[in-house]
Amino acid sequence: MSLQENAVYPAPPEYDVFKKKIQELTGIDLDAYKYQIHRRIHMLMQRWAVNSYDEYYRAIAGNPDKLREFLDYLTINVTEFFRNAGRWWELKDKIIPQMYKDLGHQRLKFWSAGCSTGEEPYSLAILAIEAKVANPQPVLAGDIDQGVLAKAQAGVYQRRQIASAPKEWVPKYFIDVDADTVKVKPEVRDKVKFRHMNLIKDKFESGFDIILCRNVVIYFGTETKSALYKKFLEALRPGGYLVTGATEQIFDYKTLGFESVGPFLYRRPSK
Ligand SMILES: C[S@@+](CC[C@H](N)C(=O)[O-])C[C@H]1O[C@@H](n2cnc3c(N)ncnc32)[C@H](O)[C@@H]1O
Repeated sequence: MSLQENAVYPAPPEYDVFKKKIQELTGIDLDAYKYQIHRRIHMLMQRWAVNSYDEYYRAIAGNPDKLREFLDYLTINVTEFFRNAGRWWELKDKIIPQMYKDLGHQRLKFWSAGCSTGEEPYSLAILAIEAKVANPQPVLAGDIDQGVLAKAQAGVYQRRQIASAPKEWVPKYFIDVDADTVKVKPEVRDKVKFRHMNLIKDKFESGFDIILCRNVVIYFGTETKSALYKKFLEALRPGGYLVTGATEQIFDYKTLGFESVGPFLYRRPSK
């Protein structure tokens, strides 16, 4: 059967074998993603003129660049500094000051889960400086995609990526590279530790005050999402916050053990 004929959904049985092999190779459970992921993989196969799942698997397994491209394509990496700006100002002006009061100290532990090319964790690091967080440990920033982590570590961005940052923060936290490009200053870079991680599979650290997991779970199925949110609950200290993306409501938040404290904002109860 040709690939074009295969372009009919649901996926053919060979796709099940492919999924199993991909899980062995990368740890990624393609079943954790919704049906669009099959469509995306299929498009990639067409782009490379590969005619079967088996041939495609062999191409990925035998070529680190193709594997990289596969992961890049599978996971959408779009992001920006201070994405959904209102949420950031709420963190700085309301949530963090309230945490200081409740805790009686200003040491906070942050995690950007699914950090893509670094804009979100660097925004957190800048926010921490602005909110005078007394933080002995850097912001944890994790992503499954090694390619985005390399870009994140370089810390170089198009100027349009920082459009939501307050004007006075630009010279404070960024160095001009050229007319279109900026680089985060070392004092911001040093406040973030990047780590390769698979949110579905890996064990989490604990004791976080704020976890941001925004625009990451779009391709995850309902059960995978709930399992992930449960892991986040356990990774938060009592009273800690989980911030989700601007459309990512957690419908079963109560069953999972969270309280809802605002739109797309959840808290592990204090006791
Ligand atoms: C659209 S970006 C979101 C970036 C940032 N959180 C934001 O909202 O701007 C989604 C990121 O989630 C990452 N991702 C997807 N599945 C993941 C997984 N299972 N474990 C860790 N990261 C994952 C992707 O690699 C991608 O970089």
